[in-house]
Amino acid sequence: MSDAMEGNLNQIVEVIDLHKSYRLGKNNFVHALRGTSLSIKKGGMTAIMGPSGSGKSTLMHIIGSLDTPSKGEVWLAGNRIDNLPKKKLPKLRASKMGFIFQGFNLIPTLTALENVALAAEYKGLSRKESAKLARERLDVVGLGDRIRHRQSELSGGEQHRVAIARALVNKPDIVLGDEPTGDLDTETSREIIQMMKEVNMTTGTTFVLVTHDPEVADSCDHQIQMRDGSIVDDSASKIDGSTKTLS
Ligand SMILES: Nc1ncnc2c1ncn2[C@@H]1O[C@H](COP(=O)(O)OP(=O)(O)OP(=O)(O)O)[C@@H](O)[C@H]1O
Ligand SMILES: [Mg+2]
Repeated sequence: MSDAMEGNLNQIVEVIDLHKSYRLGKNNFVHALRGTSLSIKKGGMTAIMGPSGSGKSTLMHIIGSLDTPSKGEVWLAGNRIDNLPKKKLPKLRASKMGFIFQGFNLIPTLTALENVALAAEYKGLSRKESAKLARERLDVVGLGDRIRHRQSELSGGEQHRVAIARALVNKPDIVLGDEPTGDLDTETSREIIQMMKEVNMTTGTTFVLVTHDPEVADSCDHQIQMRDGSIVDDSASKIDGSTKTLS
């Protein structure tokens, strides 16, 4: 760990000068991230906003170790993760992170309970322990009476809750959500955010949420605005200058 990182363990995520380019043709690149630096405080709720194509999902994928940067560093709880060997990543993700991503859908043939339990089994817990934890998490998200329902027997909001229970089942340090309320009506979206806030307050789990919804962003304690692959506004830098210490 570098000296710069040691003083910063209250920051769960540190992203330093991140670049990501996708090669489309011989001399044709998309620069999805162009030197992004940010800090995310442990135990907080951060909203990442910005126009379509500004690099929000790319940033979330790299923070979540699902993709690698072209340049730059990602630190999670004081450990550098962007250069870890690929074979170490599934364990890191299963033990430290929860994902509420659009691509991470529920498995339709499994019940709510089985969907959530599977994530715990994947981490290495027995089937029985996993089912017990899954039941507890489904209770937390208010679905204790829906555990035997399959995807087609759940409303959109309930399916989101199952995805959140699944993201929480391994008690992650951080939950990454890419538009976790994206296709929900206003009322359901409010309920989901309220629930995440409760989990955040009672367990100290850090949430980082990409959102287009100003109401969701307002209910977070830290807002980041992206444009064209860069951060153009960061509310944390206005309060304590934490993003500036890294640049
Ligand atoms: N796998 C890829 N290959 C090539 N280009 C990509 C790839 N993934 C993303 N991009 C490009 O990188 C840029 C940033 O994409 P990204 O998905 O991060 O945007 P976003 O901010 O999440 O947008 P949205 O709000 O629409 O979800 C876009 O121009 C996109 O076309
Ligand atoms: Mg996106």
